[in-house]
Amino acid sequence: MSNYQHILTEEVGPVGVVWLNRPNVLNALNRVMVREILEALERFDRKERIRVILLAGKGKAFAAGADIDEMAEENTISMELLNQFADWDRLAQIKTPIIGSVHGYCLGGGFELALLCDMMYAASDAKFGFPEVNLAVMPGAGGTQRLTKLLGKTRALEWIWSGDMMSAEEALSFGVVNKLYPADTVFEETLNFAKKLAEKPPLAVRMIKEAVHKAVDYPLQEGMYFERKNFYLLFSSQDQKEGMKAFMEKRKPDFKGY
Ligand code: CAA
Repeated sequence: MSNYQHILTEEVGPVGVVWLNRPNVLNALNRVMVREILEALERFDRKERIRVILLAGKGKAFAAGADIDEMAEENTISMELLNQFADWDRLAQIKTPIIGSVHGYCLGGGFELALLCDMMYAASDAKFGFPEVNLAVMPGAGGTQRLTKLLGKTRALEWIWSGDMMSAEEALSFGVVNKLYPADTVFEETLNFAKKLAEKPPLAVRMIKEAVHKAVDYPLQEGMYFERKNFYLLFSSQDQKEGMKAFMEKRKPDFKGY
């Protein structure tokens, strides 16, 4: 465990866990907390022994959004000078897989953080939404972009305009989350998946993450070229030699991570 102010971190074998930890305000994300999340994720990203990162919330919620108290008196110029979303841009550059374990409220900036995860498992009690419209603002950390890429224009507009909460079942049916579990087991189930993923050859896992993310942003042919380069790149690794040799020798591969 480390001693950040608003988060906790721990290493469970090769899995780096980051806990959002302001339970008395449903893990509302203030700027210090976002900076701490970024620092923790980047630290894990630099550690060779950490193969997967898991993001979860302490208490009753994953996160009920950006901290409204902190934002209430801001103005356009102070926001521009703060440039707080630069931290969010850096979060999107983490190369290690990030798996979200979501329970309870996952709203506004909390939902944006969950959408930044590469995959998400959720508790059947989870509630997703963008209530910003009810505060006369809108999502500012990628919500209009990432939700639209996932759901398409009409569904995204329905959720973001209405500010309504999406049930876990709806989120599952729309492909926002990968799987649902009972609230008391969702963390363990997510951890189990993370541990399984951590056994895969890490370079291949990273290259796959990079290429799949490009599929969201690039035109098809550009994405195909990008995929091909990563495919070729993996043929420089010892793990590729080991993986293919082990297959031919009918034994379990011993991956080293390089
Ligand atoms: N910011 C600051 N404090 C928050 C918060 C938030 N986003 N969400 C909850 N809290 C605080 C509440 O003020 C309350 O504190 P006190 O006990 O000191 O009064 C505590 O957390 C518990 O919350 P509630 O008593 O409201 O709990 P509830 O179960 O009755 O309601 C809720 C839960 C429906 C999630 C409600 O708390 C709520 O509507 N929260 C705000 C959700 C929201 O609007 N999020 C979007 C924020 S804007 C944003 O995220 C912008 C962006 O894109 C970056």
